[in-house]
Amino acid sequence: MSSRITIEPSILSADFSRLGEQAKEAQDAGVEGIQIDVMDGHFVPNLTFGPGIVKALRQTVSVFLDSHLMIDNPQSFVGEFARAGSNRIIVHQEVCRDLPVVLHSIRQMKVEVGVALNPATSAVVLDKFLDMIDCVQVMTVNPGFAGQRFMDNQLNKIEYFRRELDQRHLSGSIVVDGGIDSSTAPLAVGAGASGLVAGSSIYNQSGSVAHNVALLRKSISSLSNTTRSMLR
Ligand code: DX5
Repeated sequence: MSSRITIEPSILSADFSRLGEQAKEAQDAGVEGIQIDVMDGHFVPNLTFGPGIVKALRQTVSVFLDSHLMIDNPQSFVGEFARAGSNRIIVHQEVCRDLPVVLHSIRQMKVEVGVALNPATSAVVLDKFLDMIDCVQVMTVNPGFAGQRFMDNQLNKIEYFRRELDQRHLSGSIVVDGGIDSSTAPLAVGAGASGLVAGSSIYNQSGSVAHNVALLRKSISSLSNTTRSMLR
């Protein structure tokens, strides 16, 4: 189990008037990736970015770009988000009637494949597909907005995926998204998360991106491998 927990800022909380700079600040702060929250106003009650934003960020930073598609018909946009420069495309299980077909179409674009689950969706829906995906994203808020409260009733789901992946010797990552800050990050990592997405705790008025990323990283640094496996 690699020890480094990945941290990805969500640009939904960034200052859009200087998005490129904000992405560079995150890259300079040593994050492992940047998550782009794509919303269509249908699957979630908010409207955000298209592939054009990914393309612009690709020209600005070299860091891993993670396109989280919170849209009704992801299979229609996989190609555009891959060509725009995404390193990973995450779709929601709730909108994929034929998940293997969608996963295959992402894989064909030579980018990493991720599947996200809303809080109300049971973990077992992914049992048959865990060996087809690089990343399970556990939503710890109902998707649509930044700044919401972390739902700790999702910790069991993180623990479930950690057990499943370990028992089946699968190397996929478990990314947690929603309400992550220096008090909830240790809970998520303690439950078995290997990656964290954070918006309002990284992009805010109370500290620089570098300072906020360092705070988050410090909050989980005491959780060594041993502690993490003991906590489970
Ligand atoms: C919500 C998004 C999250 C959100 C995270 O639908 O998927 O990535 O922007 O923001 P915080 O960390 O503030 O909950």
